[in-house]
Amino acid sequence: MEYVPLGSTDMIVSEISLGAMQINCKPGFKGAEEGDEPMAIRAVQTAVAECGVNFIDTARWYHRSQEMIGKALAELDGGDEVMIATKVSPEPEEAKLLDQFEFCLDALRRDSVDLLQLHSATDPERRDPSLEVIQKLRDEGRCRYLGVTMGYGSRVPEQAMRCIRSGAYDAIQIHVNVLHPIFAREVLPAAKEAGMGTIAMNPQCGGYLAKRCPDPDRYDLSFLEGLGVADLHQAALKWLISLDCLDVAIPGSKRPEHIRANCSVSDGRYMSEEQMRRLEEELAGTIDTTDDWGWEP
Ligand SMILES: NC(=O)c1ccc[n+]([C@@H]2O[C@H](COP(=O)([O-])OP(=O)(O)OC[C@H]3O[C@@H](n4cnc5c(N)ncnc54)[C@H](OP(=O)(O)O)[C@@H]3O)[C@@H](O)[C@H]2O)c1
Repeated sequence: MEYVPLGSTDMIVSEISLGAMQINCKPGFKGAEEGDEPMAIRAVQTAVAECGVNFIDTARWYHRSQEMIGKALAELDGGDEVMIATKVSPEPEEAKLLDQFEFCLDALRRDSVDLLQLHSATDPERRDPSLEVIQKLRDEGRCRYLGVTMGYGSRVPEQAMRCIRSGAYDAIQIHVNVLHPIFAREVLPAAKEAGMGTIAMNPQCGGYLAKRCPDPDRYDLSFLEGLGVADLHQAALKWLISLDCLDVAIPGSKRPEHIRANCSVSDGRYMSEEQMRRLEEELAGTIDTTDDWGWEP
């Protein structure tokens, strides 16, 4: 596993970290299966203890994900050193936002988190006090850094640029992957230029590669020979970590075997620009990406 600085923060994070939305134990929610608590705990422990992941992204609204992380890390030596990013959703009332945050800390079994993000905060000019509330939490030492997350949509580039220019956030988490590379062209480079940490949500295309790809063997990946890439999933992650403007990818999986395969992509080898372009071309137009990407509205 390679480790990289998250923007200008003092966090040195695993280049492939863990997105914990799939580790939620609510049957049906983002692919969670019934009775998967032991698998959820094993998934977190595999990522940290076996694969070297030292950064986990979760959220107030990922059902039992935070509880699973808290339990899993409590059983591991050094589990309390794993850096945690969580998210609270913007609220018109300060008390409600604080309730969300306290819920997160309780479930995670922590007194503070490393990165506190405003979840899907697509309108930087909204009138609610959410930003002031999380700034206060940072000043009180209850979180170390502040972030903002946003999915995709026609207004997201403009909204993201406003968040970046505001200077209020230390990191941005955005929907970017090989099927949806648009934010890698403008938004992420601007965030990087501003010294922000850059985090790719939905790096495996929100499950599209696994569930919608009609015939994974139809793609000729021989041009990636020498990069240790065995399939489309690993190719998608290699593409992401090869972006200069990206710090960390947070693939989501509840299966230890997928977590191992994902983490093994961080091995110090990267795609050339030509290889990246070729992979985009190989995939373009071949996968139906018109509806649910698995991101929260
Ligand atoms: N802020 C936001 O609004 C927002 C929105 C969406 C996501 N996120 C963050 O981004 C993280 C990742 O998002 P995500 O979970 O939608 O996207 P993802 O990593 O793009 O895709 C997850 C899906 O891909 C499958 N998968 C992962 N690795 C695989 C592999 N090696 N082989 C086959 N299938 C594989 C998973 O199934 P299995 O579980 O069966 O492996 C799951 O169905 C989330 O956990 C969350 O932290 C944030």
